[in-house]
Amino acid sequence: MPTGIRDSGYTFDNGSPEAVPQLRALESFLDPVTARRIAPPVLAPGAVCWEVGAGGGSVARSMARAVGPAGRVLATDIDTTHLAPAANLDVRRHDVRSDPPPGDAFDLVHARLVLLHLPERRRVLATLAGALAPGGWLVVEEFDCTAPLRVLTAPNDDAAKLFAQVTDAMLGVLQTHGADLAWAQDVHAEMVGAGLVDVDTVTHSRSWPGGSTGASLYATNSRQLEPELLDAGLSAGQLEGFRRLLRDPAFAVMSYQFVSTRGRRPAER
Ligand SMILES: C[S@@+](CC[C@H](N)C(=O)[O-])C[C@H]1O[C@@H](n2cnc3c(N)ncnc32)[C@H](O)[C@@H]1O
Repeated sequence: MPTGIRDSGYTFDNGSPEAVPQLRALESFLDPVTARRIAPPVLAPGAVCWEVGAGGGSVARSMARAVGPAGRVLATDIDTTHLAPAANLDVRRHDVRSDPPPGDAFDLVHARLVLLHLPERRRVLATLAGALAPGGWLVVEEFDCTAPLRVLTAPNDDAAKLFAQVTDAMLGVLQTHGADLAWAQDVHAEMVGAGLVDVDTVTHSRSWPGGSTGASLYATNSRQLEPELLDAGLSAGQLEGFRRLLRDPAFAVMSYQFVSTRGRRPAER
């Protein structure tokens, strides 16, 4: 069992060799969407930002460029293996479920694909909202994993069935570790409940052909979760067939729906 599972409730393990392709695939798919959501006026030069569960660090690095030398970015994670500090970018090991927030006057707090995994997600969201400066923004981005993944093209009749079987089993493993597959749909109301204003939500999904970076995310996830997928009754042959499918250009599937919600703490009068 990866250490991350025992220590945090988080299903994946940043220390595993599969974490690098996993985090890269997430970044290449999601960074353009996130960049639009944190673009000015949300993020401005001189801003002070907290990137929660920073993972591979690409969002923290782009925030650091955007805020410039007068601003500061703090990137936190329970596992900081892939994070490196820079001039205006600090890195700190921090468990967002149990450690006190590292400040209470952030102009931007951003968390992508983190709260989904944590059973304490509602309390954590309230904590993140409480760490904002007056007028500061909270941006929470998650996959909505409730809808079945739509296979668009497949090399044979069994392919879609195999794909559904393995991806369902992977979601089952995530749930065993406390993930809420429908949480993305609740974030908007939670932000309103936390007293944030100007709350808005956008969604994004796209097709992933076999061989694409996006499709490779399913394969790397299946490698990280392999022991638990075998325990759940899948065979090694099924997992190999699944990974072959994800490299096959005759296969294409829709991504999960990515849901980005942001809200602002009212400015003090
Ligand atoms: C799916 S990855 C997403 C990484 C990054 N946010 C992104 O979207 O590219 C989830 C990240 O959350 C971190 N994480 C999990 N549980 C956490 C916790 N309790 N406190 C802080 N970070 C946590 C993991 O270590 C991992 O880096």
